Amino acid sequence: MRALGPLALALAAGLAAAGPPNILLILADDLGYGDLGSYGHPSSATPSLDQLAAGGLRFTDFYVPVSLCTPSRAALLTGRLPVRSGMYPGVLEPRSSGGLPLEEVTLAEILAARGYLTGMAGKWHLGVGPNGSFLPPHQGFHRFLGIPYSHDQGPCQNLTCFPPATPCAGLCDQGLVPVPLLANLSVHAQPPWLPGLEDHYVAFARNLMADAKRQGRPFFLYYASHHTHYPQFSGQSFAGHSGRGPFGDSLMELDAAVGALMAAVGDLGLLRETLVIFTADNGPETMRMTRGGCPGPLRCGKGTTFEGGVREPAVAFWPGHITPGVTHELASSLDLLPTLAALTGAPLPNTTLDGFNLSPLLLGTGKSPRQYVFFYPPSPDEIHGVFAVRSRKYKAHFFTQGSAHSDTTADPICHASNPLTAHEPPLLFDLSVDPGENYNLLGSGTQASQEVLQALKELQLLKAQLDMTITFGPSQMELGKDPALEICCQVGCSPRPDCCHCPEGRI
Ligand SMILES: *[C@@H]1O[C@H](CO)[C@@H](O)[C@H](O)[C@H]1NC(C)=O
Ligand SMILES: *[C@@H]1O[C@H](CO)[C@@H](O)[C@H](O)[C@H]1NC(C)=O
Ligand SMILES: *[C@@H]1O[C@H](CO)[C@@H](O)[C@H](O)[C@H]1NC(C)=O
Repeated sequence: MRALGPLALALAAGLAAAGPPNILLILADDLGYGDLGSYGHPSSATPSLDQLAAGGLRFTDFYVPVSLCTPSRAALLTGRLPVRSGMYPGVLEPRSSGGLPLEEVTLAEILAARGYLTGMAGKWHLGVGPNGSFLPPHQGFHRFLGIPYSHDQGPCQNLTCFPPATPCAGLCDQGLVPVPLLANLSVHAQPPWLPGLEDHYVAFARNLMADAKRQGRPFFLYYASHHTHYPQFSGQSFAGHSGRGPFGDSLMELDAAVGALMAAVGDLGLLRETLVIFTADNGPETMRMTRGGCPGPLRCGKGTTFEGGVREPAVAFWPGHITPGVTHELASSLDLLPTLAALTGAPLPNTTLDGFNLSPLLLGTGKSPRQYVFFYPPSPDEIHGVFAVRSRKYKAHFFTQGSAHSDTTADPICHASNPLTAHEPPLLFDLSVDPGENYNLLGSGTQASQEVLQALKELQLLKAQLDMTITFGPSQMELGKDPALEICCQVGCSPRPDCCHCPEGRI
């Protein structure tokens, strides 16, 4: 074994003396690579997130494995490619029988076993199931306050507008029960007034942090905001205030929540003992036009395996431990579980993990061990396997498919009308000079260099190896749907869905 240098020893001693850090994991919804001020958006108002970015390590090459809510969230919490856990195709619905299998080991479970007080506020979207068996309280979270899926998976008209008398914009799913706000396994309100949610979540977060401190234990808070998922809405202080329309207002409210969370950490005197990580589940839903996000210089958005779908803003902030700066090293949401396990001393689950321990990169003692990233489409299958692979600066697309989520962009390759297309040879891009994936290095009339041909071989091999060895878990989305599984605060009432109505405070 290599002897530890004085710095590593001091760090290890410091960590041991202080105990494992609190973890505040903040996830935005459908937020594009180009949406934050710190990532170059010209009119977003994101001072708190920009402050985190300036005082922390800001990633330029941070990825999610699938550009869709449910699979991306599963990857984040398990460190495993979502096909392994059956999180395909598409997303879970309010009446889905399936969910994140209970055998999967979540970040909350490993941190709870390490003595953490664990809590989740916000959007879950990893299943409800019979008797709520897939909800956060059964997946390692001691406390939960949130909506079990997306806030448009229910009739959300009239819930999202401020002031309330104005007509609301946007379409939500009709014919389903109203969206419930759950406190642990009980309905707190159905539906809740959506512009009031962020305040509830911040209060929940403050309580969790204060209780953990009082109990002398670290906390793990997973704060998964509903912002900036369509349709956009925000409370009184934000509606009409951002200078970037309804999307900007939602983002501004999210940013203010981040500011409030950081103030809560500061008030408790825990800034140096708290590792804050911010990222998002997938790229922007450009079909919503100005009510969707912005991929910046990247191609396409949500639902595709192009960069705009899978590359996300990401920041790690931990004063005194993480040196502020920008990193171009490869990283993925899959890496959080192994990284946080290493930083907290929690044992890794006994299962195949797809993440790498990034703690050397965070602490400035080494590089990212990650050399490649795999991308699956929203509806993967074992025949096509991985759609795209990035290794170092090169990315190959073996298959492409447009998505309705990425409609309306100027580039038709992003759209739903662009069918599943095999590319032999693959489309190959050098992301260091072409992050927008515009110039295929293997296009007709292009003379590929030896280096490019070598990269091609390596990418083909990576795909072949993964496709050959990976085991798809049984699809949880195909376990069926049952309207009786939709959460209703009035047990046995009729007629559904309308009778499932319980104003806040009455329950
Ligand atoms: C749900 O819980 C109830 C009451 O505990 C029980 O009777 C019922 O069998 C459960 N349903 C399922 C599908 O587990
Ligand atoms: C959930 O349950 C925990 C543990 O019993 C409790 O402390 C908490 O207040 C409950 N409610 C919420 C919203 O977390
Ligand atoms: C890990 O899992 C494998 C296969 O499921 C099993 O054979 C092994 O005993 C497990 N190891 C531990 C330490 O639990």
